[in-house]
Amino acid sequence: MVNPHPVLDLSLPIVMGFHLVLSQTTGHGLEGKFSGPLKPMTFSIFEGQEPSQIIFQFKASPPAVTFKLSGETDGIFEIQPDGLLYHNKALDRETRAVHKLQVSALDAHGNTVEGPVPITVEVKDINDNRPTFIQSKYEGSVRQNSRPGKPFMYVNATDLDDPDTPNGQLFYQIVMQLPKINNVMYFQINNKTGEISLTFAGSKELDPSKNPFYNLVVSVKDMGGQTENSFSDSTSVDITVKENIWKAPQPVEIVENSTDPHPMKITQRLSPLFIHMLPLPTSVTEADWSGIGTLVAHDMDEENTVNSVLHYKIVDQFPKFPKDGLFLIQSFTGLFQLAEQSLKKQDAAQYLLTVEVSDKDFHTLCQVKINVIDINDQIPIFEKSDYGNLTLAEDTAVGSTILTIQATDADEPFTGSSKILYRITQGDDEGRLGIDTDPQNNTGYVIIKKYGNLTLAEDTAVGSTILTIQATDADEPFTGSSKILYRITQGDDEGRLGVDTDPQKNTGYVIIKKPLDFETTAIHNIVFQAENPEPLVSGVQYNASSFATFTLFVTNVNEAPQFPQHIFQAKVSEDVAIGTKVGNMTAKDPEGLDISYSLRGDTRGWLRIDPATGEIFSAAPLDREAESLYRVQVVATEVGGSSLSTAAGFNLALTDVNDNPPRLAKEYTGLFFCHPLSAPGSHIIQATDDDLQSFRGPQFTFALGSESLQNDWEISKINGTHARLSTKHTRFEERVYNVPIRINDGGRPPLEGTVSLPVTFCSCVEGRCFRPVGHMPGIPTVGSTVGILLTTFLVIGVILTVVFIRMKKNKGKDNVESAQGSEATPLRN
Ligand SMILES: *[C@@H]1O[C@H](CO)[C@@H](O)[C@H](O)[C@H]1NC(C)=O
Ligand SMILES: *[C@@H]1O[C@H](CO)[C@@H](O)[C@H](O)[C@H]1NC(C)=O
Ligand SMILES: *[C@@H]1O[C@H](CO)[C@@H](O)[C@H](O)[C@H]1NC(C)=O
Ligand SMILES: *[C@@H]1O[C@H](CO)[C@@H](O)[C@H](O)[C@H]1NC(C)=O
Repeated sequence: MVNPHPVLDLSLPIVMGFHLVLSQTTGHGLEGKFSGPLKPMTFSIFEGQEPSQIIFQFKASPPAVTFKLSGETDGIFEIQPDGLLYHNKALDRETRAVHKLQVSALDAHGNTVEGPVPITVEVKDINDNRPTFIQSKYEGSVRQNSRPGKPFMYVNATDLDDPDTPNGQLFYQIVMQLPKINNVMYFQINNKTGEISLTFAGSKELDPSKNPFYNLVVSVKDMGGQTENSFSDSTSVDITVKENIWKAPQPVEIVENSTDPHPMKITQRLSPLFIHMLPLPTSVTEADWSGIGTLVAHDMDEENTVNSVLHYKIVDQFPKFPKDGLFLIQSFTGLFQLAEQSLKKQDAAQYLLTVEVSDKDFHTLCQVKINVIDINDQIPIFEKSDYGNLTLAEDTAVGSTILTIQATDADEPFTGSSKILYRITQGDDEGRLGIDTDPQNNTGYVIIKKYGNLTLAEDTAVGSTILTIQATDADEPFTGSSKILYRITQGDDEGRLGVDTDPQKNTGYVIIKKPLDFETTAIHNIVFQAENPEPLVSGVQYNASSFATFTLFVTNVNEAPQFPQHIFQAKVSEDVAIGTKVGNMTAKDPEGLDISYSLRGDTRGWLRIDPATGEIFSAAPLDREAESLYRVQVVATEVGGSSLSTAAGFNLALTDVNDNPPRLAKEYTGLFFCHPLSAPGSHIIQATDDDLQSFRGPQFTFALGSESLQNDWEISKINGTHARLSTKHTRFEERVYNVPIRINDGGRPPLEGTVSLPVTFCSCVEGRCFRPVGHMPGIPTVGSTVGILLTTFLVIGVILTVVFIRMKKNKGKDNVESAQGSEATPLRN
């Protein structure tokens, strides 16, 4: 719609009605503003205006008759031939904020006579866009006790409208905080930037141990949030409250009167975020402490600004002993210093300082521990300088406490600096006394430690008591708890000593159990322990008081040579050749003297000994059947010295060889048959052999001495030792037959013996062989035997009778004795 009215003030939004009103005023002085010659011009037009709006009327000056428009018209701007510039659509600032146009004036032939002249159209903003949060949800975290107002996160919204106009000015607001206790807001938002920080209340009260999670609903409005017509958006913000990582610094340790190299490094990170300790700037000694350490706090404000300048101040000292204000801190540097010249551990082992660190708005407190380290600067002092005289019985038991001494040390208790060790420095050269220290209370106990020295000859008899020892026990008497056993724990590896205990008196007797030996151990440093047979209750231990010592010196005595054994055994075959070595005996002299050997008890002269070497040889034929175990003694005599000697047995066992032929077991003199023989008869004979027999016993075989005898005699074996000799007929003469019999022992090699067995054929009286005496000299007869016996009995009877009668006479009528008794008496006389 073409409007002929030329001048419009386009600086305000134009509505049609207003436009018409203005039109009516055209020609009343507004002409110069809305129409004019062609020249560079700038117009401002609100976006969103209704189309067909007149912008300007250019006036042509001859020969120009018409106008032409070019440039960024975007199909929106047009110019009429009469020079009326207008737009046919609503403008949109967000599409093109500035249109650069050119207008030319043309003559009737279409030739440009003026221009092109630049015409700029700026599109003015209207609030036609809503703000939008970039994220629909935000998450952030904040530490407890963070400074109020210090942003820890932000939300961010955009608005396409011109940020230089209220249309694009955003306004952030926390609409809701969940949870919200007592209506207190812990969080605040910068209404322009969207930065979120803690309020003062939040800085003070937020505590993750109570509630670590918060949710905010944040809104954003355009138009600076100031009008009802502003657009808005909202978002959700989750906030986690985290623990404050600020921690009290580690204790600072300070050595009393330290002589450590300087500067002493006590670098400490008091807190990774806020505070740390710098190395000591100066030396630290008890006498001159110019500095202890430096406390350095960091502030999160920008460095080197007034906000980051910190001040340090000690606000409390604990303990305030020996006085308050022992420590100073430099306000700007945080350097600790000691106000006092020296610090004594005896006054306080640790000081707790509360330091306030502040900037111009805020302050925080920090605790610094200062440990005073003890040095051994106190000497022990005896309670008494003289403990007087002490009288002791001579037999005071080892282990007895004879004196209690006490010294004190002012250094820190339960440290090496205050621990006291006692030492006897004079007057106990033999080391018989000792001091045991009770580490709990530094009390010293002077104790008899040693039984002194003992000197014994090495030949002191086994079984001798050499020392009496006594220990005491405080437990109930006569129980396992108070019973004492003594045990030698050192100095007697060979077990030469032992301790017998008298259970009544708990007295121990040190006794020689095995011979002492100077050559093996000349000095025994004996340690013995007194123990209870019952185990100690837990927590109680045997301590030094349960041990005692003495030294045993063994003196040398010239001793006889010694054989390693008391008896030597050897075995040899009985048929060894003369001069065969049958044994070897060696003795040693403890003093190392040479030894000469000899034999004693060689009754059969069978042996010979080499005096120098102790080798023993056979000196004659040996015979097992004479001595199966030949026992002699070998005497070792030291050469020189006191010619002491020792004997040891030498037992020579002879082993058998089959060197004896078999023979009859006895003399068979009385074998007879009654003559004349009524029937063939027999006799049993037995054989024997002096050699050792096998376990089966002898296995003899028997045979007649010659074949010619086989007509009259027959011999048959009964077993290994017995045989039966039988007659083969009855036609024997009345005389003695000597029957030769061969006996073989079956040994290896077999030995055979031939014996002559006398068999008598005689007349018999009542089945017994009778022959007049002397009829057959050498052979006793029954008759002669009986005669001899009768004569003997007769003589004895006469003697007995005479004796009996005399006894009766001597003893009188009172004596009534048995016949046996009467017979015995004269025999005793
Ligand atoms: C926006 O915050 C500033 C300080 O940050 C304050 O002075 C101003 O009043 C706030 N505006 C509104 C509308 O709350
Ligand atoms: C501290 O040390 C200095 C120098 O080493 C010494 O002279 C002084 O006696 C000492 N003080 C004490 C109490 O030990
Ligand atoms: C050993 O123990 C006893 C008893 O417990 C005690 O009286 C004595 O002092 C202790 N001796 C040492 C050296 O500790
Ligand atoms: C050590 O302890 C004993 C008793 O247990 C006590 O009498 C003494 O005073 C203590 N001494 C010190 C230095 O503590």
